[in-house]
Amino acid sequence: MKIPELHIADLVARIPVIQGGMAVKISMAPLAAAVAEEGGIGTIAGSGLSVEELRAEIREARRLTQGIIAVNVMFAVTEFAQLVQAAFDEKIDLLVSGAGFSRDMFTWGKERGIPIVPIVSSAKLAKLSQKLGAAAVVVEGIEAGGHLGTDRSIHDILPEVMAAVSIPVIGAGGFVNGEDVARTLKSGADGVQMGTRFALSKESGAAPAWQEAMLKATQEDVVFVHSPVGLPGRGIRNPFTQALDDQVDLKSKTCDRCLKRCERNFCIMSRLNLAQQGNIKDGLIFSGANVHKINKILSVHEIFEDIKNGILSLKEEER
Ligand SMILES: Cc1cc2nc3c(=O)[nH]c(=O)nc-3n(C[C@H](O)[C@H](O)[C@H](O)COP(=O)(O)O)c2cc1C
Repeated sequence: MKIPELHIADLVARIPVIQGGMAVKISMAPLAAAVAEEGGIGTIAGSGLSVEELRAEIREARRLTQGIIAVNVMFAVTEFAQLVQAAFDEKIDLLVSGAGFSRDMFTWGKERGIPIVPIVSSAKLAKLSQKLGAAAVVVEGIEAGGHLGTDRSIHDILPEVMAAVSIPVIGAGGFVNGEDVARTLKSGADGVQMGTRFALSKESGAAPAWQEAMLKATQEDVVFVHSPVGLPGRGIRNPFTQALDDQVDLKSKTCDRCLKRCERNFCIMSRLNLAQQGNIKDGLIFSGANVHKINKILSVHEIFEDIKNGILSLKEEER
């Protein structure tokens, strides 16, 4: 029984799964390369890295695998254009971008022959993306980790996007196991993007304390924060999110101007960095809604075994 391939432009992923880009430094070369080695698409998170750091990560991933490597850069970061150009210079396979919408990236992608995959949360933006030349779209629902562009469920948005565009559609948000992937593919999606599951892998860039906090989290521990990017974000309740709720002044005294526009209610990059390094009290721990369904750190290989089994067993049931 065949597992459907994911075709994006001329790229063919044997397993229709993209590991979502996760900043800051959660999805780096070791994770992206391990995913690419398994036949999925591995994504290096470029946001929060310097141009030189991003170049080094891409080179390291290339050293580790000949599989498909994407780079994700959030439109909201000041160095968006520089990071994207550096990723293109390093000849990445595709660019994924969310947290805002860049029309320019489609022009740059065309000039350099690199497929562009925007993250969207509505059929309207998916259609516009297709018109501008997107090679595929990732559709994120409210269940997703990180910044959110919608308050609607992926289960409601996905069918609307599939009906609206003819390019490949990849569903994201709340999918944590093979059964979830199988069901999403069965509903007609061309692929699935997963973040939280891969953040809780052996190859993840997150500190052990970050992963422990995620493994311990119950459904009630997953909360929304208002990110200075101007969008809601989803994370794990901790003293930092409690202080935000209590309206404690968390404005940073220093500023690197890392965002094009920043509401300055707190410094997102430093809070994400703190969490990634293991300071789970003061840091921001981004998480998907279904983290409570994950109870073990797995290797990327084990995650892919589960995904493959999930797809294969669903097909067996159907026969
Ligand atoms: C820790 C973390 C960091 C993330 N960082 C980014 C990011 O830098 N850029 C982005 O487009 N999406 C980011 N996301 C979203 C993921 O790429 C992915 O789409 C999302 O996590 C899917 O939902 P799931 O976590 O329920 O699988 C992040 C998610 C998490 C959990």
